[in-house]
Amino acid sequence: MITDLCLDTSKQNDPLYDLSHANTMALACLADTVVTLTAESQLDTFMASTDSSQPLFVLSGGSNVLLPSKLHAIVLRPKMRGITITAQTQDYVEIEVMAGENWHDLVIHTVDQGWYGLENLALIPGLTGAAPVQNIGAYGVQLEDYMQYVRAYHLPSKTWHQLTAADCEFGYRDSLFKRTPNTWLISRVGFRLHTDPTKVLANYGDVQTVAQTYAEQQGRALPAPRDVMHAIIDIRKQKLPDPQQLPNCGSFFQNPIISQNQFESLQSIYPNIVGYPMPTSTVKVAAGWLIEQAGLKGSGIEPIVTHKHQALVLTNHTPYQATQADVATAQNHIASSVYDKFAITLCREPVWVNADGTIGQEHAV
Ligand code: EPU
Repeated sequence: MITDLCLDTSKQNDPLYDLSHANTMALACLADTVVTLTAESQLDTFMASTDSSQPLFVLSGGSNVLLPSKLHAIVLRPKMRGITITAQTQDYVEIEVMAGENWHDLVIHTVDQGWYGLENLALIPGLTGAAPVQNIGAYGVQLEDYMQYVRAYHLPSKTWHQLTAADCEFGYRDSLFKRTPNTWLISRVGFRLHTDPTKVLANYGDVQTVAQTYAEQQGRALPAPRDVMHAIIDIRKQKLPDPQQLPNCGSFFQNPIISQNQFESLQSIYPNIVGYPMPTSTVKVAAGWLIEQAGLKGSGIEPIVTHKHQALVLTNHTPYQATQADVATAQNHIASSVYDKFAITLCREPVWVNADGTIGQEHAV
């Protein structure tokens, strides 16, 4: 049986169809049809009964999407729950996590169990099933470092597949799933986590210092994964707005990658420009720095404004009323201001959803 399945479009103000509380940017959005899945078999049943020409759109935690005011697609919401140990040795544990598990709760659970690796990815909003789509990454760790496989349903052919990490074609905030939207519905994610409490990655920004303080409070000479997790939670809380209090969808732009030559010529004008060397003579530039230098930290075009502590995050000051059009206005203003000053094109990170459920253009300008 398909829970919450409602096909009567006359009920458009039913909370089942109102997705304004189902996206962390809190954009106004009414959908024609929403199907909530609590078991994989419900997807088989639903897909067997549906007309294949109807557009489908997969909505997970809603933390990296920009929804349209009217969404004329069948919205599939994977909410399957469960965490299972699939293999265990002294050195590692393998777990399989259902798509509907909250990501941050999963991170806390794994660290509590003594299974390590995901601690640097604490406090990232969203559900586990969406994590591979964007290859979520923070503080030196990306999902692909610990993910082994996904189980996913291929919507066009109505078949289930197991994809290895290599099959997922991960890149910086990128994957096969992101490049082929509305094609795959991820239902399970497999991880291999380690059990060595002395192995941590804490060399990013303030993480080492804050984690060391936590360690000493607990009588540990050096930070354990738990200390790193708490440090990252603190740092994120200081810099990033809580979507429950100030709606946002995390980093709004990717950090652009430019040539070493362009970086050096910008550096001669702006000695403080923040960049990280990348392979093949390129440099990844901090988009938050560029936006701040363009004079747009804490501003934008109301009601969509950059966050006062992290210019890379756009926030919505009129939750459940602001629309995608408001986001586009602010986004274009910010991206063109940065382009005018630095000749660098910013690329939007969250997924732009069109009214028919298709995915919009990647580039912001
Ligand atoms: N910066 C500024 N002004 C700003 C923001 C940043 O000057 O308004 C400078 C910082 O001082 C720092 C540099 O830019 O020198 C980088 O800033 P930060 O460490 O905050 O990281 P980020 O590159 O802005 C990325 C991810 C974040 C992730 C952090 C930490 C992208 C697009 N974003 O941000 O991801 O939390 O690193 O690893 O890669 C998210 O996905 O929602 C997200 C927040």
